Amino acid sequence: MATPDDYLRKDWQMVRGVPVVCAFSFNWDRIDNFQSRPDDIVISTFPKSGTTWVCEIVDMILHEGDSEKCKRDAIFNKVPMLEFAVPGKMPAGTEQLAQVPPPRVVKTHLTVDLLPKSFWENGCKMIYVARNAKDVAVSFYHFDLMNKLHPEPGSWDNYLKKFMAGWTAFGSWYDHVKTWWNKRNEHPILYLFYEDIKEDPKREIKKIIHFLGKDLEESTVDKIVQNTSFEIMKDNPVTNYRMAPSTVMDHSVSPFMRKGLAGDWKNHFTVAQNEAFDEDYKKKMANTTLRFRTEI
Ligand code: A3P
Repeated sequence: MATPDDYLRKDWQMVRGVPVVCAFSFNWDRIDNFQSRPDDIVISTFPKSGTTWVCEIVDMILHEGDSEKCKRDAIFNKVPMLEFAVPGKMPAGTEQLAQVPPPRVVKTHLTVDLLPKSFWENGCKMIYVARNAKDVAVSFYHFDLMNKLHPEPGSWDNYLKKFMAGWTAFGSWYDHVKTWWNKRNEHPILYLFYEDIKEDPKREIKKIIHFLGKDLEESTVDKIVQNTSFEIMKDNPVTNYRMAPSTVMDHSVSPFMRKGLAGDWKNHFTVAQNEAFDEDYKKKMANTTLRFRTEI
């Protein structure tokens, strides 16, 4: 039987052209054959884009702002990650989802092509959260330092080159945000931006409430805004990933709830890195109407 050690610090494994966390890559049939329910709510993101934030917001909406009910379990159990697996050691996301009462909230980082067909066929509602590439790169670098299911990121300079080349878990940020952006023309996808939520959480939370067909009182919305602030979520054991096994996540290297800012990239990019990044970005993002803010 495999132990988690067999999966620690292993390089990405390719799944149909997409680099995936090694531990997740086995028995991919479990993903391809996954059966959705029409009332499933999918939260899809490229990693480090505010997934946990929006998962907690949606859980709070579904529980009408009841913060005690939302403390029933860790975020990674309340909102299982579809593709998660550490074979022989931890329940796979697909197994966890089988235990979650409907309406299920399904977290995923899968590309449009890798998402199980069943979600598209059932017309499931999907919320996609995107964050500007520079802050994602910085956040992902720190996450790779602390998450031992990922390979060591190496130096920041080298890591940034790998990010630009799409050699990160779930592949190219550029392709991910663009393909999901295009998909919203043919499927019920609410496409949100991290920077917008940071700028005006109430406005964006109301968009989610509306999209989910809910109607909540103003005071409930205020409660959700307050309980999903960075400061509260950082101290909340349900949302700050301190309940995740320490064999996998080492918060002493870098906490999961790190800074929660728009524009922190400025503290990490050198002038030369920024110029090279911008030049490459222009080429990779020339064929899309998608626009990001790198500060607010
Ligand atoms: P930083 O590393 O920049 O701090 P994900 O959940 O997709 O892995 O994203 C994690 C990032 O979202 C981290 O970014 C984390 O701090 C940030 N984040 C989580 N909850 C947040 C909140 N309530 N407000 C702002 N940022 C939040």
